Amino acid sequence: MQTIWKQITQEDNLNIAIYEEAGAILRKGGLVAFPTETVYGLGGNGFDAGASAKIYAAKGRPSDNPLILHISDIDMLSMITDEITDKARVLMDRFWPGPLTMIFNKKKEVPYETTGGLETVAVRMPDHEVARKLIEAAGTPIAAPSANVSGRPSPTMARHVYEDLSGKIDMILDGGDVGIGLESTIIDMTAEPPMILRPGYITKEMFEKEIGRVITDPAILKKPDEAMKPKAPGMKYRHYAPKAVLTLVESKACEDAKTDKVVSKIVDMATDKITSGAKVGIIATIETVETYTNLLNNRNVIIKMSDEEDSVVTAGEAMMFVIGSREDEESVARNLYKVLRQCDEKNMEYVYSETFSRDNFGEAIMNRLQKAAGYTIVEAD
Ligand code: TXA
Ligand code: MG
Repeated sequence: MQTIWKQITQEDNLNIAIYEEAGAILRKGGLVAFPTETVYGLGGNGFDAGASAKIYAAKGRPSDNPLILHISDIDMLSMITDEITDKARVLMDRFWPGPLTMIFNKKKEVPYETTGGLETVAVRMPDHEVARKLIEAAGTPIAAPSANVSGRPSPTMARHVYEDLSGKIDMILDGGDVGIGLESTIIDMTAEPPMILRPGYITKEMFEKEIGRVITDPAILKKPDEAMKPKAPGMKYRHYAPKAVLTLVESKACEDAKTDKVVSKIVDMATDKITSGAKVGIIATIETVETYTNLLNNRNVIIKMSDEEDSVVTAGEAMMFVIGSREDEESVARNLYKVLRQCDEKNMEYVYSETFSRDNFGEAIMNRLQKAAGYTIVEAD
């Protein structure tokens, strides 16, 4: 299949025909990838079991992992569920459109192919004009997982979608880079108290301000095992994984000493691998990149920067990937998946990363980083 690539422009008039074409593809059961404020989604008609089957096939995703239905306005919600609690209403008033997915009991019209066989259904109203106009044009809720091949980092640019799904889907709408960069927060509104199944930009504290007590699925805070299965089926898979062996380094030292300890531990571990001839990546921050460079220079290591045009690492060299600022967790979230993909593009064999505070939005960042690392965390102290 030839995948059509359409660039969404600032000129609204030019986009009308694009949305019409994309909407028609969706109504006929085809697949269209589109930007949202969190990550790019791979859309299909959520009420068409055949379209859901195509989504699973294109992603290579296990079909017990349910999809999120995306809506463009509140009226569409009545097609999906008729059990909306008062608390759910408060949350949709406050956070929709936005990076929030809520789980409801489904109406019988929602196919089991979309919900992975569950009686519940995940729903989100994205805060992105392209997503909203596409759903409107299709005239039906759109089932959309992240538009990556299963197991790869979620796409935060249209180019990432192209790399993973070109030739397997009908169309890609390029609406530029996403704003948030991590998937939506999922909260189960069929539970009392409501339960967070996946951390994201909307945090526990933000929910509790609106509706009182909420709890977090204990299984998502640690490595999933048989005894404790995460309630969102997708959370049990080792997502977001780069091909390199990724190791996270943290320190329990006091705030002032912490980052220095982490940096010197990473330099030690990286030097070992470099000496044995491996290609080694370091995920650094604006605050720490210079220290790594100085320490590695002292050890006569050749260092390349990932953002320099055509930079290539050969055996026994290091590459620095600057993910953002330690002072600005949103910058770290926005770049995380892009950096993990770059580690693959640059053929890294071992990658070391700093860790970040788990407070607020940090919980979502660390949740994704830990999964990418297969839960390998080394103490620097
Ligand atoms: O930000 C996002 O949510 C993105 C964009 C495209 O909207 N979508 C996304 O979809 O991340 P996906 O399929 O990659 O992740 C959906 C998650 C999975 O972990 C899945 O198991 C969970 O939602 N989920 C879906 N329906 C569920 C249900 N009824 N009960 C529990 N978990 C559910
Ligand atoms: Mg996904």
